Amino acid sequence: MDFFSSDQQFDQLYPRAISALASRHWTPLSVAKEAADFLAVGTNPRILDIGSGVGKFCMIGARFHPHAVFTGIEQRESLTQIAQSIEQQLGLNNTQFLTGNFTEIDFTQFHHFYFYNAFYENLIDNDSIDQTIDQSPELFNLYNRKLYKQLKKLPAGTRIATFHSSENEMPSSYQVVGVGTNEDLKFWIKL
Ligand SMILES: C[S@@+](CC[C@H](N)C(=O)[O-])C[C@H]1O[C@@H](n2cnc3c(N)ncnc32)[C@H](O)[C@@H]1O
Repeated sequence: MDFFSSDQQFDQLYPRAISALASRHWTPLSVAKEAADFLAVGTNPRILDIGSGVGKFCMIGARFHPHAVFTGIEQRESLTQIAQSIEQQLGLNNTQFLTGNFTEIDFTQFHHFYFYNAFYENLIDNDSIDQTIDQSPELFNLYNRKLYKQLKKLPAGTRIATFHSSENEMPSSYQVVGVGTNEDLKFWIKL
């Protein structure tokens, strides 16, 4: 079966309760492909998904860009474990899934970044993935500030693809250079 032919096929890889969250929380296949095409440039690029969930973006990127390495950082261990089990099932050898807060990651180890509005769950009372982690508007602001600072330090030429971003986290040194077929996908390059 070609799991990469449609969202319906890909989401079948996940347990039912996880695939039920796809339309709200996991990147659609076409968006992941376009974002990865933008990010996987240069020789052996290392790409970080900030808040990688069950690894959908990373695995789609890795399948279509075997010369690139896709790393995901995810705060919910249960989601990382699911991503690790599917990466094995698919036989991917250019993905890596870590459990932790993105604030603990050294961004300079990566060339380019993907960000699907990971902090938004701090602003809503329902529709969250689960209730296993602290959520609050204060955390939303804190994470946005931390991400802003991390991004600001990166070298010129750094690329970021954002999906449904509030754009508060983007320093003014990053310029929008394109928009995806889905207009909530934006492509940025640091000047
Ligand atoms: C909208 S989902 C996107 C998942 C994945 N990037 C994708 O595109 O399929 C955002 C994910 O970010 C994670 N997240 C939120 N805040 C985080 C933080 N501070 N550190 C690490 N992960 C975080 C959430 O647990 C959630 O799984």
